[in-house]
Amino acid sequence: MVSVTDLQKEHPLFNERHEVPDRVSKGSHISSMAQYEKYYRESIENPESFWQQRANELLTWTKPFTKVFSGGFENGDVKWFEDGELNVSYNCLDRHAERTPDKVAIIWEGDSPNQVEHITYKQALEQTCRLANAMKELGVKRGESVCIYLPNCPTAAYAMLACARIGAPHSVVFAGFSADSLADRIRDSKSKLIITADQSTRGGKVIPLKQAVDDAVKKSDSVQHVLLLQNTGGKVHFEKGRDVWLHEAMEKQSTTCQPESMNAEDPLFYLYTSGSTGTPKGLVHTQGGYLLYAALTHLWVFDYRENDIYACVADVGWITGHSYIVYGPLCNGATTFMFEGLPTLPDAGRYWDMVQRHKITQFYTAPTAIRTLMKFDDTFVKRYDVTSLRVLGSVGEPINPESYNEVVGDKKCSIVDTYWQTESGGHLLTPLPGATPQKAGSASFAFFGIVPEGNSVSGVLCISKPWPGITRTIFNDHERYMKTYLNVYKNKYFTGDGVWKDQDGYHWITGRVDDVINVSGHRIGTSEVEGALVTHNKCAEAACVGVPHDVKGQAIFAYVILKENVEETPELLAELKGAVRTHIGPFATPDFVVIAPGLPKTRSGKIMRRLLRKIAAGELDQLGDTSTLADPHVLDLIIEKVKSLK
Ligand code: WTA
Repeated sequence: MVSVTDLQKEHPLFNERHEVPDRVSKGSHISSMAQYEKYYRESIENPESFWQQRANELLTWTKPFTKVFSGGFENGDVKWFEDGELNVSYNCLDRHAERTPDKVAIIWEGDSPNQVEHITYKQALEQTCRLANAMKELGVKRGESVCIYLPNCPTAAYAMLACARIGAPHSVVFAGFSADSLADRIRDSKSKLIITADQSTRGGKVIPLKQAVDDAVKKSDSVQHVLLLQNTGGKVHFEKGRDVWLHEAMEKQSTTCQPESMNAEDPLFYLYTSGSTGTPKGLVHTQGGYLLYAALTHLWVFDYRENDIYACVADVGWITGHSYIVYGPLCNGATTFMFEGLPTLPDAGRYWDMVQRHKITQFYTAPTAIRTLMKFDDTFVKRYDVTSLRVLGSVGEPINPESYNEVVGDKKCSIVDTYWQTESGGHLLTPLPGATPQKAGSASFAFFGIVPEGNSVSGVLCISKPWPGITRTIFNDHERYMKTYLNVYKNKYFTGDGVWKDQDGYHWITGRVDDVINVSGHRIGTSEVEGALVTHNKCAEAACVGVPHDVKGQAIFAYVILKENVEETPELLAELKGAVRTHIGPFATPDFVVIAPGLPKTRSGKIMRRLLRKIAAGELDQLGDTSTLADPHVLDLIIEKVKSLK
């Protein structure tokens, strides 16, 4: 076990704390550590009354719940508000459209700063109802899943909310995934309808979404209809009887649609995510608990207030977009900003230009974007007035908040380094902007209701009490859910991350303890990349590891064993990378592909990835114990090969 003093040496800043700026603390929801501690204690000692109060304050129920919580980790049967009923789209749209119809719900910016749309709550509700009616006309029934494969645009939000309105769980697939990955997800969720666009453009590059859908549909037999958004107007294949133009389908529909009253525990959506083994898992999130958790974390972690302009620059294809572009902010009646472009286009000042133009108050992004931008000089920030900002949020990896706060926040903002996962639905460990003194690189303390396990030593992060936002199961595979999360440590939820806690109680996430790689905040399973590589007919075997990368956080380093008598050529290396692009998507392409003479395996045939990671990172002095290798000589050959490439 590693001691705190050892860890302290690696984190020289670990005793430094930045106090909360007064301008952020004043008037904030949680404005002191004393208040945080009081509420936190209440949330742990008396969770039923804590969550009951929040569920009644933040959500509107069509049938009030009488039971707050039941079940537990032992059998994986956690339930929140189990006899309550509500409709998520009513909570996110109707009730705000009734009170403040002209308030802007969504501000959207496209690839170019000239593409801006403001959509009011009334308009968002009408569009959502039209789309919901169109889906019903196409035969979608309550309980049947709908696949959404769209760019990060308002239609994606309408589509999600329209599904919620009619009680059809959605499965959003990030539009950067390839046709093969899309097909896997459609097959698993058995969606009958796909909502997509002709094409999208990002950084001026055209992405042929419809083409990917056409290919994916061929590999899955559930799809009956494709609803097609005319986005770029580019020419696409149109299959009569199956494909339907979205604008035509919506035009003829009514702007009202009765929301279904859903049970709190009915599934709201499936979202596929990578694990260390096997195919991506369809995590299931619920109507009541998930929405409450997304709304409360949005309200308190970003200290959202009535007239704020809140921006999360993630994509709706990931959980961050689900919880913190769509569900959390809209449930709270916020103005949420959606961005379809790139942070470096037209130049590295794009984010700050948007902050100035829209007077953004909270800005939520990933460390990789900040690292990219900090490679450019400060004037890209300094030329804009970003003083509207109060809270700077970060997710995906630990952030070095120095550059974020000094350059962007001018030390007048609070940084919230939010640690959470697709599985958690919302933030697990996070500072609260008006209360928590910041330690650079630490996600600090548990959110309300979250009980992390650990003491002043390092270990794996487990959570010992169920919270409302936790994923209830893996779609169609509860056994795998139990095995992956709940049976690893008795009566605890296992996150898959390492953590240590310092003597002030701050948590420091040390990264995944399994074979998941985090590339630019995208979670990628090594087994998926390996699976993609071996589809190449010249590849016999592959093993992938993550290596540190100064912008992406981690990059993928692939070791490939070729079939007998196959020559290594530059073309072959390019083809192998191409196989990953085709089977997963461009974001999962390995930075390095090394043709290896063999893989270091134990006598029982298990690949020793620890060794491959050390070799890839050039840490040859830290190989440790190699005595269990079946053939130690292979290791020398691999080292030689990797060295020869550097
Ligand atoms: C990592 C994204 C350190 C972690 C919301 C987790 C982080 C995985 C942080 C989940 C953070 C996320 N500090 N590591 N602030 N936030 N992670 O499911 O390894 O895409 O398990 O959800 O990202 O990634 P996912």
